[in-house]
Amino acid sequence: MSETEFPPSNTLPVLIDADRIRKRVEELGRKISEDYKNQPLVLLVVLKGSFLFCADLARQLSIPCRIEFIRASSYKDAKVSSGHLQLSELPDLRHANVLVVEDILDSGLTLQKILEHLRSENLASLEVCTLLAKQIPRDIQIEPKYIGFEIPNRFVVGYGLDYAERYREVPDIRCLD
Ligand code: IMP
Ligand code: MG
Repeated sequence: MSETEFPPSNTLPVLIDADRIRKRVEELGRKISEDYKNQPLVLLVVLKGSFLFCADLARQLSIPCRIEFIRASSYKDAKVSSGHLQLSELPDLRHANVLVVEDILDSGLTLQKILEHLRSENLASLEVCTLLAKQIPRDIQIEPKYIGFEIPNRFVVGYGLDYAERYREVPDIRCLD
């Protein structure tokens, strides 16, 4: 793959800057802390894209939580979903209040597959928190309880989100298309 495919991150237009992200994550943390005040909470982090979001979100919670991880890979190095999705083994989540922490809701395929697995697990509750949701028509109906930002249908990178494993470390969310 040629390096020309990967422009320097500071040349990419900013969609959401680090300061806005920080403020929104604070708000989400407050809301989730209120909603789960008396319920033991498990954050189920969808790797790799959500790693920064969850690290920041967990530190904004004023309630205790357990943090578990699941690995979902669908995109390989492409900017559109391949439809093929691999899920890692699930931790034992029986009777837990599970909040799935996702980086971005695009076609919904990834979350659909994860939620399908979880629904057979005898959980106390199951909700989704996604940092970003693309405003696109989708066949798959997924209604995250918490959404950080609704964004236009652009390919974005930064704050955990990658293109071919690049740009995850970028502090802002930037457009690559
Ligand atoms: P979905 O299965 O089509 O909803 O895609 C969800 C996954 O694809 C996310 O967890 C991301 O890892 C990846 N993805 C979707 N859109 C983007 C994007 O704009 N930038 C980077 N990754 C994306
Ligand atoms: Mg990705």
